[in-house]
Amino acid sequence: MTMQTPIGNPGNPAAGGALPDLPAPALPGGLPDPSMLARLATEFFSALPGGAAVPDVSAGSGAVGGVPSALPAAAPILSSIGNPVPPGSPLAGPGGAGTGVPGLSLPQGRVPGANLLPGAPTHVLSLSNRIPALAPHAAAQNGLPDSVVSIAPAFEPRAGGVALGVPEAGGLARPHVAPATGSPFYFLDDAARSAVDAPLDIAVPHSLHGNAADPRAFGLPAQNDLRELLPLHRFTPDDAARTPSRTGSLYAFDDARAAAHPRDAQRATPFASAHPPFDVHAVRRDFPILSERVNGKPLIWFDNAATTQKPQAVIDRLAYFYEHENSNIHRAAHTLAGRATDAYEHARETVRRFVGASSADEIVFVRGTTEAINLIAKSWGEQNIGAGDEIVVSHLEHHANIVPWQQLAAAKGATLRVIPVDDSGQVLLDEYRKLLNARTKIVSVTQVSNALGTVVPVAEIVDLAHRAGAKALVDGAQSVSHMRVDVQALDADFFVFSGHKIFGPTGIGVVYGKREILDAMPPWQGGGNMIADVTFERTVFQPAPARFEAGTGNIADAVGLGAALDYVNRIGIENIARYEHDLLAYATSVLAPVPGVRLVGTAKDKASVLSFVLRGYETEEVGRALNEDGIAVRSGHHCAQPILRRFGLEATVRPSLAFYNTCEEVDAMVDTVRRLAARRA
Ligand code: ALA
Repeated sequence: MTMQTPIGNPGNPAAGGALPDLPAPALPGGLPDPSMLARLATEFFSALPGGAAVPDVSAGSGAVGGVPSALPAAAPILSSIGNPVPPGSPLAGPGGAGTGVPGLSLPQGRVPGANLLPGAPTHVLSLSNRIPALAPHAAAQNGLPDSVVSIAPAFEPRAGGVALGVPEAGGLARPHVAPATGSPFYFLDDAARSAVDAPLDIAVPHSLHGNAADPRAFGLPAQNDLRELLPLHRFTPDDAARTPSRTGSLYAFDDARAAAHPRDAQRATPFASAHPPFDVHAVRRDFPILSERVNGKPLIWFDNAATTQKPQAVIDRLAYFYEHENSNIHRAAHTLAGRATDAYEHARETVRRFVGASSADEIVFVRGTTEAINLIAKSWGEQNIGAGDEIVVSHLEHHANIVPWQQLAAAKGATLRVIPVDDSGQVLLDEYRKLLNARTKIVSVTQVSNALGTVVPVAEIVDLAHRAGAKALVDGAQSVSHMRVDVQALDADFFVFSGHKIFGPTGIGVVYGKREILDAMPPWQGGGNMIADVTFERTVFQPAPARFEAGTGNIADAVGLGAALDYVNRIGIENIARYEHDLLAYATSVLAPVPGVRLVGTAKDKASVLSFVLRGYETEEVGRALNEDGIAVRSGHHCAQPILRRFGLEATVRPSLAFYNTCEEVDAMVDTVRRLAARRA
């Protein structure tokens, strides 16, 4: 099928498109007056049906007249984060032997966490005795083992070493296929040749195309001129100069962005583009990569569960950081340190608001979900799990929510127990209830399955965990970009996610932890930034979150994550959820009837993911054929082998949707699958 919807950037000047008519410019450089924009935006948002979300412009959001603005708001003052104790300070202990903390005597015994010092990085070869996951396929739920720790991995503060086991695309059942010559990367060089033996020239019935859903059929608002107008407003240093000065900043410097080089006034800077709550085609223009062509076809990005694409606002924010703010944080007496620290702490506050935490001190930046769960397992777990204790996960979990617990259980003599799922891929709550007992110390479950898309009833799971006296961790890697998360309503003890799954950069993620729990946990890595005072005898640690952020973190990408969350807020997560729900329903309705397609994961409540296998094809063949048509999906085990084996599979093809995908893109994918199916029918 020919793509019916242009996915270029017709209205985006950066893409060479025509500019819509603008009101007479009120500002130099052709920018519309922000106050006019704000008024229009406010009127528009408040007029939308369905209680459209109004961007958060409350105090602290750095708003300019109601339009989300470029300047971070006043950073919360973190009283004791990492500032070096100056000579002569009352905080300094005599001869360097004091605690550095007023009122805190030098502990004589074991300082909590003091013995959890990071080990040396593991030598690769030392892991070579680890056994790849070659267990037989897990049986259906009745026969499900509830103790799966059959290996004895090292329990180390740092994970590392070679990745052993099954090649992603090949699975256990098939021999590994050597990459095509010419490229070390997967099958990309294969794209020039056919994935199957002959061209896919079989006619495709187009009867379904008439049913292609138009977003308007979903009850989404019609567009108007404001949609075109608002994205053109780019925040510039001149806007910064008009922004009311920040108060309460960690640093008192005037960072004088208004005096930035004149070229800055011409270029896009952070916090670009506000939209009416939802218009998929306007949204698409915010993502420059969606204008790419792959194998001569418009890129269709259906690999959102692996990573999401980045809006221009995030790309610009990262560039702005490196052009104007780059410095290490929480240290040094200079202007850029102040800017960088403010930007970083502002991002922490943005995350706090996004997940509904009560304090920014409950937000720890890490590299991603994997590191987040490792932190909890290796800090909280080290402290709280003992021999005979039980850790509960679900059968749906990503390896990142299995392996760290397995390592911990093996080191401590604890047991890992698994909540089974039904044939739709939904967890069995009654079976879960039976797993809980006085030995259960933590329940760690995903909110959305990355392999099947199942939306797990985590509120009930958390509640039942608490009734059993256990803590609860919710893995939000696959949920945060699709649904509203409120950690307090959920009452999760921990909630973790990755920035790159929610339109932010890679290498940045979040641990939310209830404050009293984080404060009682020992550090897991030692070094700069996380200490209050160091002598050769002992170290006093900072409170959370700095306690868990040893060394120089991923400052710029934390700031980029903040920009991504601001962007999602401007679109409105409820608008996103509603659109994606309908898009997934549509995609399911057109993919499921294709002859030979078996959908894997058919729970009533699903988000984003459409895992399937196609009769007569290896999953990588399907992935390769889709790639030839410019369509990016993941095919393989999705780092979730246990749940695929639950369904008797080693791999699936996994299209995964985001709010910038369209029904026309779904049609294009189904066309390819239908042609493949017809070829080997
Ligand atoms: N967890 C990512 C996925 O599901 C990498 O593809």
